Amino acid sequence: MRIGILGTGVVGEAIATALIEKGHEVRMGSRAAGNEKAVAWAKKAGKLATEGSFNDAAIYGDLVFLCLNGEFALDAIDSIDPSGLNGKILIDVTNPLDFTQGMPPRILEEYRHVSLGERIQQAVPNAYVVKTLNTINYSVMVNPKKVNNGKHSLFVCGNHMDAKNKVKHFLADAFGWDAESFVDLGDIKAARCSEAFVPLWVMLWQAVGSPLFSVKLVQ
Ligand SMILES: NC(=O)c1ccc[n+]([C@@H]2O[C@H](COP(=O)([O-])OP(=O)(O)OC[C@H]3O[C@@H](n4cnc5c(N)ncnc54)[C@H](OP(=O)(O)O)[C@@H]3O)[C@@H](O)[C@H]2O)c1
Repeated sequence: MRIGILGTGVVGEAIATALIEKGHEVRMGSRAAGNEKAVAWAKKAGKLATEGSFNDAAIYGDLVFLCLNGEFALDAIDSIDPSGLNGKILIDVTNPLDFTQGMPPRILEEYRHVSLGERIQQAVPNAYVVKTLNTINYSVMVNPKKVNNGKHSLFVCGNHMDAKNKVKHFLADAFGWDAESFVDLGDIKAARCSEAFVPLWVMLWQAVGSPLFSVKLVQ
């Protein structure tokens, strides 16, 4: 499958690398083609890996991951020709966090009432935004068995049941997520809750002393 990864940070790189290892063709996107990190990644990752602008990666992917800096995520989306995203599933891993006031981080002012996930869905109404993976460390996203042998919870939300089901199957197949891990929170409005969970996650990281942990929903 062809996959676009929007983002050259640690998250984009971890997801892109894991997908190459599964035999997918992956294009990493950044503000401008030729980004130093993206070029270095593509060189190291081999023949299945390419790089380009955010728009290049979005058009390339049958499936697109959003691994963007939360503050500038909508600017990145605005740089894409929306027709290039029509009918595509966007897996949104991005968090709108503000670390400028110290710990714990806050949710950026503009996303305190309407989440970033919702704003992205509004910006690209003909795409299917599925918010997930944003509540765990990047290395656990692509290797859930690093924590409790994969027995922990992953929140998923989005407006389209079919898109959410496809994402669950994809994450199970590509990264080994257990079908029982997925907790469907409902439509994309629930991104208000999964994004708001992340400041707590950051404090738990401090408390635990390692990012290799997760939460598990028990009844
Ligand atoms: N670290 C984790 O374990 C973790 C876990 C869960 C969720 N997340 C979330 O995942 C997302 C990605 O995190 P990250 O640390 O990999 O990357 P990041 O440094 O937060 O963001 C990297 C991307 O943001 C783009 N960017 C920066 N400034 C921009 C601007 N002015 N306009 C447009 N785009 C801009 C960069 O573009 P260029 O490529 O052009 O530089 C780059 O592609 C974040 O929202 C983070 O909260 C992280």
